Amino acid sequence: MNWLLSSFFASALISLGTATLVTDVTGASQRSPLVNSTVNLTAIVTAKGKSGFYLHGDPVKDKRVSNGLVVFTTSATILSQVAVGDQVSLTGKVAEFRPAADPDYLLLTEITSPTNIVVLSSNNTIKPLVLGRDRSPPTQQFSALDVGRDGWLSVPNNQSRIDVVNTTLQPDKFGMDFWASLMGQLVTIPKPVAIDFPNSFKEIWVHGDWPVTGKNARGGLTLTFGPYGIPDANPEAVILGAPLDGTSNPKVALGSVLSDVVGVVSYQFGFYYVLPLTAPAVISNPSFDIAPTTLRSSPHDRCAITVGDYNVENMAPTGTHIGDVANHISNVLHTPDIMFIQEIQDNSGPTDDGTVSANVTLSNLVAAILTNTTVAYSFVQIDPVDGEDGGQPGGNIRQAYLYRPEKLSLVSAPGLVVGGPLNATKVVGSARTPVLSFNPGRIDPTNPAWTDSRKPLAAMWRTASGHTIFTINLHLVSKGGSSTGEGDARPPVNLPVAQRTSQVETVSTFVASILHMDPEANIVVAGDCNEYLQTRSVFASLTPLLTDIDEVAGIPPVERYTYVFDNNCEQLDHMFVSPSIVVRCAEAEHIHINNHAATTAARVSDHDPTVAKIRVC
Ligand SMILES: *[C@@H]1O[C@H](CO)[C@@H](O)[C@H](O)[C@H]1NC(C)=O
Ligand SMILES: *[C@@H]1O[C@H](CO)[C@@H](O)[C@H](O)[C@H]1NC(C)=O
Ligand SMILES: *[C@@H]1O[C@H](CO)[C@@H](O)[C@H](O)[C@H]1NC(C)=O
Ligand SMILES: *[C@@H]1O[C@H](CO)[C@@H](O)[C@H](O)[C@H]1NC(C)=O
Ligand SMILES: *[C@@H]1O[C@H](CO)[C@@H](O)[C@H](O)[C@H]1NC(C)=O
Ligand SMILES: *[C@@H]1O[C@H](CO)[C@@H](O)[C@H](O)[C@H]1NC(C)=O
Ligand SMILES: *[C@@H]1O[C@H](CO)[C@@H](O)[C@H](O)[C@H]1NC(C)=O
Ligand SMILES: *[C@@H]1O[C@H](CO)[C@@H](O)[C@H](O)[C@H]1NC(C)=O
Repeated sequence: MNWLLSSFFASALISLGTATLVTDVTGASQRSPLVNSTVNLTAIVTAKGKSGFYLHGDPVKDKRVSNGLVVFTTSATILSQVAVGDQVSLTGKVAEFRPAADPDYLLLTEITSPTNIVVLSSNNTIKPLVLGRDRSPPTQQFSALDVGRDGWLSVPNNQSRIDVVNTTLQPDKFGMDFWASLMGQLVTIPKPVAIDFPNSFKEIWVHGDWPVTGKNARGGLTLTFGPYGIPDANPEAVILGAPLDGTSNPKVALGSVLSDVVGVVSYQFGFYYVLPLTAPAVISNPSFDIAPTTLRSSPHDRCAITVGDYNVENMAPTGTHIGDVANHISNVLHTPDIMFIQEIQDNSGPTDDGTVSANVTLSNLVAAILTNTTVAYSFVQIDPVDGEDGGQPGGNIRQAYLYRPEKLSLVSAPGLVVGGPLNATKVVGSARTPVLSFNPGRIDPTNPAWTDSRKPLAAMWRTASGHTIFTINLHLVSKGGSSTGEGDARPPVNLPVAQRTSQVETVSTFVASILHMDPEANIVVAGDCNEYLQTRSVFASLTPLLTDIDEVAGIPPVERYTYVFDNNCEQLDHMFVSPSIVVRCAEAEHIHINNHAATTAARVSDHDPTVAKIRVC
């Protein structure tokens, strides 16, 4: 078009005065160019729900600009004026919505206060955009603002806000921009695969039939390192919300395959959504028979030690949970020589009555394991100070070791005592023979890093072969209060990452003091770290000293997960070993007995256990 013609059309548009296009409202940036304006729109209704309807305007060539838009209204009268397939004209105000209570969510552009609704024609059909064919989401990064070595997991985080920067969309590069460029549009998700259990609102994270990264054997997307070592955020996943027609999403498990979904792209609760027009059906489910570990305690090989690690999720002394955990330890983990357990509650469970002792809880667990096995575990732990270690109020959760006395015994010596909750165990002894001043003992328990959190439980053992091994059982501070992966704050807020980093530092100092005295010491540090190894800054003090056992065992990166949350299969539970163990090689398996269950109710814990086999000689 030449200059004369285009200026002619521009002035024609201005003189008409009424023609705002959907694409004028959406624009190529995160925020609308027309916010707070009153506009007249003509478009086709693609979908209708209880709180509004969706418009399809003429598309433009620019892929950044969505031609979909939501009209917000809860008025039954207004909703009854439009039907899917109607071409309508209406007047409304361009608004940006974010719930006041959720300042870390993105603003959603919408049309509010619709009036002058005129149906111009009916029964128009709009073909949904087929994702994976017409457009495919990028697979690595959420946002251009996730700067730093660890990408979306970089520290410091919460450094900028998408809505303040008002980023220009780059839908080929950044997942959040991709979904933003389709906001309000009708799309098809072909062959959706569930990558998490449904949440309590029956919403389901999926990826469709398009290129994905991090895909594991179960069909989930694992948090891995992407190209250039930047943690992969798996932005190619999207969450299916409540169907617009009031039907209910089906029960799914990790790896369930669903029928194709047609729905509209939206943003709510801190994530990009597709709201299905109607509920999909489950086409297939994976097998729920989970094989137990192949790693077994060796009665004859006295150098080999099997090590289990399991966050048993608030285990109280009574109820069925204790038998379920015992069953897992017995029949799924095959009674490892030593178990690192987290979340053992005191003898009164969650009742907040000042009880701190957990000997009944642990005795009951040990007795339950003995019902079906010949393994008579001993246990050791340290009672916390009442109410000082976080977790479920009244529960006084703590870490404990179960150990098979025929394979391991706590090193004892004259004058060596079990530490109290506030006694800091120290590395004492002499070159080549470090010992702990309290055995077991807690590491630096009065350090502010451990405020309202579980103190690390260190112990020194003698094996049946006469060798020593140091263990540290961890349960680091949880991620509560963090912002959503697709929220406004970039990189997403990771709480309390500074505290978690300090916690690892106190453990690293302790490990370094053992290795300083004996570089060949056998050390295993394991437990629920409430953090991914991809958040490298948190583990920076420990990684030069110890090696992740998954590396030693050669577990493929996509199979390294113990937890499923939002769009990711991810690893919160880790086992790190010292150089002397690394050189002797090790095996390890994450047993997905919980996260490959049919439902969340069928799980015994939200974490999967891990079993490793290491050699101390
Ligand atoms: C929208 O259309 C109405 C008539 O339907 C007209 O009165 C009004 O001026 C138009 N508003 C804008 C912003 O063009
Ligand atoms: C966002 O950017 C668009 C395009 O440059 C602009 O029209 C709009 O006014 C901006 N909005 C805000 C709130 O900065
Ligand atoms: C839109 O209106 C709201 C409420 O009146 C105001 O707070 C906001 O600054 C306005 N936004 C723009 C971009 O003018
Ligand atoms: C739209 O289609 C329905 C059936 O599909 C029909 O009953 C109705 O009359 C049609 N409306 C118009 C305006 O063509
Ligand atoms: C993130 O930063 C903003 C300032 O940009 C601040 O208001 C907010 O409280 C921070 N969020 C968290 C969870 O720290
Ligand atoms: C013991 O075995 C029975 C029968 O297989 C099983 O139902 C139960 O869960 C097992 N209990 C424990 C604690 O292992
Ligand atoms: C728990 O410890 C208390 C106090 O030491 C003791 O009286 C009780 O017998 C112990 N219970 C079990 C089951 O070991
Ligand atoms: C262990 O801690 C207790 C109470 O905090 C204290 O009374 C005791 O002296 C400590 N023991 C040693 C050996 O430091």
